[in-house]
Amino acid sequence: MATPSFLANKYLISSCIFVCLNIISSLDKGFALTLAETTKGHHLQLNSLLPASTCSPSTRGHDKKKASLEVVHRHGPCSKQPNQHKLKTPTHTEILQQDQARVNSIHARVSHKEVDDLRQSDTSIPAKSGSVVGSGNYIVTVGLGSPAKPLSLIFDTGSDLTWTQCQPCVKSCYKQKEPIFDPSVSKSYTNISCNSPVCSQLISATGNTPGCSSGTSTCIYGIQYGDQSFSIGYFGKERLALTSVDVFDGFLFGCGQNNQGLFGGSAGLLGLGRNKISLVEQTAQKYGRFFSYCLPSTSSSTGYLSFGRGAGGPSNAVKFTPLSTVSQGGSFYGLNVVGISVGGRQLSISTTVFSSSGTIIDSGTVITRLPATAYSALRDAFRQGMKSYPQAEALSILDTCYNLSGSKTVSYPKIAFAFGGGLTLDLDATGILYVASASQVCLAFAGNSDDNDIAIFGNVQQKRLQVVYDVAGGKVGFASAGCP
Ligand SMILES: *[C@@H]1O[C@H](CO)[C@@H](O)[C@H](O)[C@H]1NC(C)=O
Ligand SMILES: *[C@@H]1O[C@H](CO)[C@@H](O)[C@H](O)[C@H]1NC(C)=O
Repeated sequence: MATPSFLANKYLISSCIFVCLNIISSLDKGFALTLAETTKGHHLQLNSLLPASTCSPSTRGHDKKKASLEVVHRHGPCSKQPNQHKLKTPTHTEILQQDQARVNSIHARVSHKEVDDLRQSDTSIPAKSGSVVGSGNYIVTVGLGSPAKPLSLIFDTGSDLTWTQCQPCVKSCYKQKEPIFDPSVSKSYTNISCNSPVCSQLISATGNTPGCSSGTSTCIYGIQYGDQSFSIGYFGKERLALTSVDVFDGFLFGCGQNNQGLFGGSAGLLGLGRNKISLVEQTAQKYGRFFSYCLPSTSSSTGYLSFGRGAGGPSNAVKFTPLSTVSQGGSFYGLNVVGISVGGRQLSISTTVFSSSGTIIDSGTVITRLPATAYSALRDAFRQGMKSYPQAEALSILDTCYNLSGSKTVSYPKIAFAFGGGLTLDLDATGILYVASASQVCLAFAGNSDDNDIAIFGNVQQKRLQVVYDVAGGKVGFASAGCP
């Protein structure tokens, strides 16, 4: 249903989808919103934009022929933290501040490469930042060792090294939900020696020169993230079970004996970047550098991370754009954004704005970052489409927010991205609005301070989309409504 003022406005009628926000229940922390979307008489029920208090797992999108893992948000009912009360759930402001730290470190990594030397000592903390784990992450559970032990890992397309906390924790380990992995009770663990060629590959994956333990000549990795998080330990080989049938012997990973940081109960990181050491490269023989995922709309629903083409490959609904590489940021997956439309109208942004910044897609950055010039055009058009709603105060990096608590029905302009190769991608409602509360619903985009900084297509904008990485085929694809 549209309000009369909307009916009077041709621009909005032609360019909006109409969304009904209903306050359906009072939860202890507030409320939940449901969206009903109406386009051309169709009435379809979208998900709640805020998580429910219980997890509703989904099997949609699962292809039994593919190695498929369940993806859950790190914070929320589906992450099944047994001692969740002990782990503080970050506030929206904290999430967005950590997100900015991640973006800053990506910008630093792409613009100039810094390399550190770990050789001095087994336990020293590398001083320079690599990447930031951030806080808006998604986790999957894999099995490591023989017998296999379940471990929940943050999956990250922006980094390469897979690591987990290991016993004995010589200096420190943070709290995690499963027992900490103990290589001494696994029959399949082996140390990597310092003179092994794979030891020297660590430098490009971590930005740090590996160390070497004095007595046994075991290769030592160290990775530090820009928010002071780090992991240091032995570089090892182990049996990795992605599923009960997809098992990889000799998987290279970091067995971290000194770990600290904002990993929020997860056991470590699963690196899905483009470097030789990443999971994608280490499983290339079996999966052909092909994987896909769907990030659930809220932390009370689940998505998936699948490897391999599966029977028949991706569905016809998936549309592709060429994958590009980023100089100085070889781990990243680059995309070419060529334009953005708001409410069906192309924004007038010179194509050189995007071609000179470049764009990456990242599973670990929460909010999409655009060149300043592009963001201000997007924001102005969005504000124009939302002008009948009362504005609310800014939320950290989000400067365009509305108080929708008094509105029974809300219509907002659709946002679509145009990518190289003729791909137009309509974002899901959950990829346009960041709902902190009914009285603070924000445009889920931010601008880079410098037009030359790389743009990042973040995970809020990827929500519910099936995102397909065909690395061997040099393309990335998207399809809508891949998961709830
Ligand atoms: C791996 O190397 C470390 C350090 O030298 C050693 O303490 C540990 O026992 C080794 N583990 C195995 C399985 O060889
Ligand atoms: C939001 O709007 C409602 C009424 O529409 C009002 O009662 C409330 O105080 C507003 N909230 C804030 C945070 O401004």
